[in-house]
Amino acid sequence: MIKVAPSILSADFANLAQEIHSMTENGADYVHVDIMDGQFVPNISIGIPVVAAVAKVSKIPLDVHLMIDRPLRYTEAFCKAGADILTFHVESDTPENIRKALELTKELGVRPAISVKPGTPAEAVLPYLDLCSMVLVMTVEPGFGGQKFMDHMMPKLRTIAGYIKEHNPDCELEVDGGVGAETFRTCVENGANVLVAGSAYFKSTEPKAFVDLLHKGI
Ligand code: DX5
Ligand code: ZN
Repeated sequence: MIKVAPSILSADFANLAQEIHSMTENGADYVHVDIMDGQFVPNISIGIPVVAAVAKVSKIPLDVHLMIDRPLRYTEAFCKAGADILTFHVESDTPENIRKALELTKELGVRPAISVKPGTPAEAVLPYLDLCSMVLVMTVEPGFGGQKFMDHMMPKLRTIAGYIKEHNPDCELEVDGGVGAETFRTCVENGANVLVAGSAYFKSTEPKAFVDLLHKGI
């Protein structure tokens, strides 16, 4: 089954409760929450208090994408704030600390996930796959919404889909960046089952029809 995760990075932050309510009404599966620290990526978005506020009003799971340097420092805080899935970039700390962050997340009853930037090879997910509930493949450079989808990430997506099948078949595979009506099919064809859409969802004049379209898959 294909899942759709609208990213609130493109939402109206002054009306976040209403935006989340509409997302749920429109059939979204996860609320994708982008956390940026101005260090790991050249942009700052939102932090722990906003995650806690969103968790209070959301009836669907929170998929929290950490684009922050050395995320182990804040893992417990994000778990306690109400993340349901917590995603760490493999590039954001040492392998030991990334593993510790994934283990701590699991211990706290939250689903651990890892993400790879466009320049990071598929093999980088292998040391963590046993612990992961989801892998996120970036199809833009993390940091901003509204960028162009990188079609050339599809071979990497397919390779990671193969690793998942072999090592941890229950693990979900998510794509993030430039995903919309024109680009979601190739993601699904190459093994993704969770589609993040920021600008494509929020710019859509018929967001429910957009979610329905993505749910159909290929
Ligand atoms: C980018 C973020 C994305 C972003 C996607 O760094 O991780 O989740 O919101 O936005 P679109 O769908 O507009 O590319
Ligand atoms: Zn994201």
